[in-house]
Amino acid sequence: MCNVSAQPASVRTVERSRFARVLVTGGAGFIGSHLVPKLLRAGNEVVILDNLSTGTRDRVPAGARLVEGDVRDAGACARAIEGCDAVVHLAAAVSVRKSVEEFLPDAEANVMGTLSVLRAARQARVKRIVYASSMAVYADSERPVPIPETHPTRPDSPYGVSKLAGELYTLLVGRDCGIPAAALRYFNAYGPGQTFTPYVGVVTIFVNKLLRGETPVIFGDGEQRRDFVHVDDLARATQLTLESDVSGEVMNAGTGHATSVNEIAAELIARLAPGMIAQKAGAVPGELRNSIADIGKARKLLSYEPAHPRPRFDDVIGYWRAAKRM
Ligand SMILES: NC(=O)c1ccc[n+]([C@@H]2O[C@H](COP(=O)([O-])OP(=O)(O)OC[C@H]3O[C@@H](n4cnc5c(N)ncnc54)[C@H](O)[C@@H]3O)[C@@H](O)[C@H]2O)c1
Repeated sequence: MCNVSAQPASVRTVERSRFARVLVTGGAGFIGSHLVPKLLRAGNEVVILDNLSTGTRDRVPAGARLVEGDVRDAGACARAIEGCDAVVHLAAAVSVRKSVEEFLPDAEANVMGTLSVLRAARQARVKRIVYASSMAVYADSERPVPIPETHPTRPDSPYGVSKLAGELYTLLVGRDCGIPAAALRYFNAYGPGQTFTPYVGVVTIFVNKLLRGETPVIFGDGEQRRDFVHVDDLARATQLTLESDVSGEVMNAGTGHATSVNEIAAELIARLAPGMIAQKAGAVPGELRNSIADIGKARKLLSYEPAHPRPRFDDVIGYWRAAKRM
């Protein structure tokens, strides 16, 4: 691992990158907008390939170059990857619920889009590929206990299938082309700046509803448990993976801590609308009951440690309060 320092204590950060220019697909989205500034600080030139379907131009920081285009478009990929020596592939259609309603657009973006990025990476002879996968690749787990990477991959949603296909293709193409490639299975990201849609990000959806004086809706009984991981930790895990020599591996990126949707609702209601009672609605098909990360492998291979081991929502609330005042 190259130029990685531990500061403070157990939370490792990258000070200086070994790469010159990095392509970040989907870099104008939620996780990308937290990753790209870290790459710039580590000395990378950064090119973002994004079709701005959920991403926004204002999330592209000064110093990064945006190529507006679709990952499925070979020409756009070739233009964006020119001169890059590494790729972080984040671009995807990111919604379990939408993928259940319409599986074709999900697969087109996540499977064909990934293959198109991999073909460009092979042609450009990059030295490193990092793929953003998801906990949606796993079979549901009966109990809310941390699951390791060996847990069965039997997705419950088309989104999980497409993310698993992308992961498998990335490792296979990496192996066959001699490009070190690794995948991170992100668990439930939260944090400031999450793309606000009715589909993704329970914390962002609840905060927005509560700030508007609306009642949040809990799908199912609310006892489904998730591993809520701060976006800054995911961005750091991604950068640590990029700079590591880990190859041919998938690693969970989460915290290992389980929180129920009822607990999230109770905390946010207590802070933003004391006394309100959340509505209940039918469970969403394709959503897992329990999804908690065992992060032992990322700890071992990347020295990854979450800086936010428990979910805390001050910065999310602050972000949306400020956004609504604008
Ligand atoms: N947010 C989560 O909780 C979570 C959990 C697990 C995995 N992930 C994965 O992390 C990655 C980033 O997710 P995010 O939360 O930042 O989502 P996001 O929607 O905020 O970002 C995705 C970005 O990709 C872009 N994009 C989508 N389709 C594209 C296409 N065909 N061509 C070019 N650009 C395209 C969007 O405009 C957006 O900027 C995705 O691969 C997602 O599957 C996210």
